[in-house]
Amino acid sequence: MPTTAKSTTLQIATLCLALTLPTAMLSAQPAGYNYDEAKVPAYTLPDPLVMADGTPVTSADQWPKRRAEIMDLFLQEVYGKAPGKPEGLHFKVIEQSDDAINGKATRKQVRVFFDADETVAMDILIYLPKKLVDAKQPVPTFLTLNFFGNHSISDDPAIVLSESWMRSSKEKGVVDNRATEASRGASASRWPVESIIDRGYGLAAIYYGDIDPDFDDGFKNGVHALYDPPAKDGWGSIATWAWGLSRAMDYLETDSEIDAKRVAVFGHSRLGKTSLWAGATDPRFSITISNDSGCGGAALSRRAFGETVARINTSFPHWFCDNYTKYNDNEGACPVDQHQLVALIAPRSVYIASAEEDTWADPRGEFLSAVHAAPVYQLLGTDGIGGETEMPPINKPIMHTLGYHVRTGKHTVTDFDWNSYMDFADQRWVK
Ligand code: GCU
Repeated sequence: MPTTAKSTTLQIATLCLALTLPTAMLSAQPAGYNYDEAKVPAYTLPDPLVMADGTPVTSADQWPKRRAEIMDLFLQEVYGKAPGKPEGLHFKVIEQSDDAINGKATRKQVRVFFDADETVAMDILIYLPKKLVDAKQPVPTFLTLNFFGNHSISDDPAIVLSESWMRSSKEKGVVDNRATEASRGASASRWPVESIIDRGYGLAAIYYGDIDPDFDDGFKNGVHALYDPPAKDGWGSIATWAWGLSRAMDYLETDSEIDAKRVAVFGHSRLGKTSLWAGATDPRFSITISNDSGCGGAALSRRAFGETVARINTSFPHWFCDNYTKYNDNEGACPVDQHQLVALIAPRSVYIASAEEDTWADPRGEFLSAVHAAPVYQLLGTDGIGGETEMPPINKPIMHTLGYHVRTGKHTVTDFDWNSYMDFADQRWVK
């Protein structure tokens, strides 16, 4: 769905730079990152199981009150507050077929209008295993955001080519901020659609720029056009994309072909930060998966390893709420850290994935978030992360209520990642 937007060359240049910088070039970056474990400052994490007034939380029935305290702090200081479900929200199926992905899948494209006047919308592309649809078995589904349009995840020619603003990329076939035919299937290596279908899962995909184009325009475009400009604690883009995932969930709940009680929300990188925030704010997500989410995602901010709060707020001033800048070079003053984000999702399942070479995202800090969230999971009667405190060996996933892996390779999404997520879903959902 087109949402027009103007941008400055500088903003886009900054975005492209930060997106594509290989590790080797990071030494050329301005200050605001550290790759030396010896330079990780001594830090004390806020305890998720101690109330703001110092009362220890020792039983599950005290958790809702403590959870509300933590949630308020994240809303106020980190991601910002989003509005509720808009009154004018409505859905239209704009295309469907029962013969997709080599005859194995059904395909449906649903336009989600955020307002009655149909001025802003996002498209959801849904593939479901045909066998399950024919058997009238509701399908457990991965709900996902993508960077380059739904048409980029597969070369299926029937996918509507996105008309939305998009970051220009020669490699992805995006010219002058618009997708071209050359961008069909350009990100297919990250989306093993056929394997997902073969394993009995559905895939629902949304282009994140339909919800809010990813550049700093003072919150004028995307769904922000329908609301007043955000205050200091108003929704940044991550909160906005997460809000879009909740609106997608509003649709999935109306679709009898989908098992809305078994929806896993998945995202990579900035969209992994988004899936964690979506999982925290919307209890309808049964499983939350963050792939290489890093700073502002699963990684502990107080470690200030890889990307730091100052760095992310400078490169991407629109991602978090304005209050978050108070913690630039001052992580220890923030009343929350990212293990509490994971704790907000308890007792629902979370899988955190890292990549060995993705030091920018701080794999150790991502793992430690799970470890320090685990006491909340245990208090609520689950096995947390199975008592693990050491990072597992490379390519050896840990799967308890909390799952984790660090795989070989770089900052991307691989078949190893997807196979692990599907193994985790098999285990958590017991089909
Ligand atoms: C940049 C940014 C990260 C982010 C990543 C991405 O590298 O610094 O915080 O996760 O972009 O979304 O690809």
